[in-house]
Amino acid sequence: MRTARAGIKGEYMGTENDRFNDWVVYQIYPRSFCDSNGDGIGDLNGIRQKIPHLLDLGVNAVWISPCYKSPNYDNGYDIADYRDIMDEFGTLDDWKRLAAELHANGIRLVMDLVVNHTSSEHRWFREARQSRDNPYHDYYIWADKPRNDWHSLFGGSAWEYNPATNEYYLHSFAVQQPDLNWENPAVRRECCDIVDFWTDLGVDGFRCDALDFIAKDFDRGRMLNGPYLHEYIHELFGREKVRHLFTVGECQSDEQTICDICGKTRDELKSVFQFEHIHLGRSDKYTPAPYTGDEIRNVLVKWQDFTAARDLNYILFTDNHDQPYYISRLGNDRARRCPGASRSATAYAAMFYLLRGIPFLYEGQEFGSANSRYDDIAAFNDVESVNYYHANEGKKPHDLLIREINYGSRDNTRRPMAWTDDPAHHFGFTTGEPWLPMPSRAAEINLARDLASEKSVYRFYREVLRLRASSDAVKDGVFRDLTRTPGSFVYSRTLGDEEIIVAVAFERPVSGILPADLTAAYRPVLMNLPTETPFSDAFSPFEVRVYRKNAAQ
Ligand code: GLC
Ligand code: CA
Repeated sequence: MRTARAGIKGEYMGTENDRFNDWVVYQIYPRSFCDSNGDGIGDLNGIRQKIPHLLDLGVNAVWISPCYKSPNYDNGYDIADYRDIMDEFGTLDDWKRLAAELHANGIRLVMDLVVNHTSSEHRWFREARQSRDNPYHDYYIWADKPRNDWHSLFGGSAWEYNPATNEYYLHSFAVQQPDLNWENPAVRRECCDIVDFWTDLGVDGFRCDALDFIAKDFDRGRMLNGPYLHEYIHELFGREKVRHLFTVGECQSDEQTICDICGKTRDELKSVFQFEHIHLGRSDKYTPAPYTGDEIRNVLVKWQDFTAARDLNYILFTDNHDQPYYISRLGNDRARRCPGASRSATAYAAMFYLLRGIPFLYEGQEFGSANSRYDDIAAFNDVESVNYYHANEGKKPHDLLIREINYGSRDNTRRPMAWTDDPAHHFGFTTGEPWLPMPSRAAEINLARDLASEKSVYRFYREVLRLRASSDAVKDGVFRDLTRTPGSFVYSRTLGDEEIIVAVAFERPVSGILPADLTAAYRPVLMNLPTETPFSDAFSPFEVRVYRKNAAQ
């Protein structure tokens, strides 16, 4: 009989290192990062070539989105073999070379762990679907008829008919992503083995995909966060062999769940992503809604205070492979764009990444990449966008549908990296034909052009990360919200005598926002708008200034 996880106290009490507060993680979407062999698809050797870029930027860990064997219905999030590398990305030997070279350069490697579902082409599912008495049948979730009206996150019913067994299987995501049955101990053992396999190969951690979906709650009609979630996570990561790893869960977590998953005595995960600031400014995935910078600030302050009070890790992030660029949604990426630079990109860089927590950056973010505009659905690949398009084709006006897709599609952040300013050579991504059209604004926003600009976003990011690395107050200090004026965010990070003050204006000019006692003891150390009067209390839209007191150097 399994016991409810609430009663379990791990003996492992956590260590100082569990805070991971000196990590700076850079997420790589391997398909779109760098193509080393001209087939138009990014690959592991391409990542290896770009290690100097990672070092120059100042990150010390990478999270690589899935690079395992996959038929790519969901670009690798549908895994057909957990122990091998997708042909287009290279071989397991390439992966080993990459891991070794990253480590030799002091960069940790975090792998994506997708265990809510497999690919429908995984051997387990190919067996399971053949007959009800196949040994693998119980690896998945079956019903004689759909058990409920659950919808797949990618559209349509979550139940798909399987003729050979005259049953339906559950898929929370695409039809080609059947959900694993975590109630089956054999499934849990398999997943532990996968974690161990990569741990033996030397990985430093895992980003755990859709982790709260592994526990269904049929009784209460919920697809996620079922009663055994914590037991399952504990079984995966509470084991002696793996409990030192860095783990971050993709979970739609409220306050209680975060405490339950990340509490030091829980022995489950080291952290989860919290998405509240990401969900601002839209009424649904495809439709923008009014928002204010004050809302972003309030959400951040709430989670800073909540996690600090409980000594929990907090992930600082604005972008990933599932979200359109933050500056395009919540940063007015056009109005504030100076040649080759975006004011809001730099303002948010300082505002987010000097907070208490673990920074995660997404590829392209470091030079102010922004959303694309394409009018033909053929320019899109994301299974979610394409399904949405077809489900609504003919029902909504075409213009509206295309506008929605451009606004909300995950392809926005999945388009290949624009490294150079050379359109004839696909901006340095590939010598072949890119698998997905380049960002539509690549000629305007690319790394080379950004670097040539006085207002380089990249150089500003590098400064922010250098400041973080050099400051114990940023890494370990207490966070205090000092905001007095709507339309701004002012906070301090303090440790002993050292203090950092970050002051940022949102969409409108504001004044009178700086702390009254900001004296000569403070030095301006970072500004995105050069000024002769760094202590002036008038801020332009998306102007950010960082002041520092009593730095060691
Ligand atoms: C997660 C991933 C997303 C993927 C889904 C199904 O949300 O981040 O990209 O499509 O899980 O694996
Ligand atoms: Ca390639």
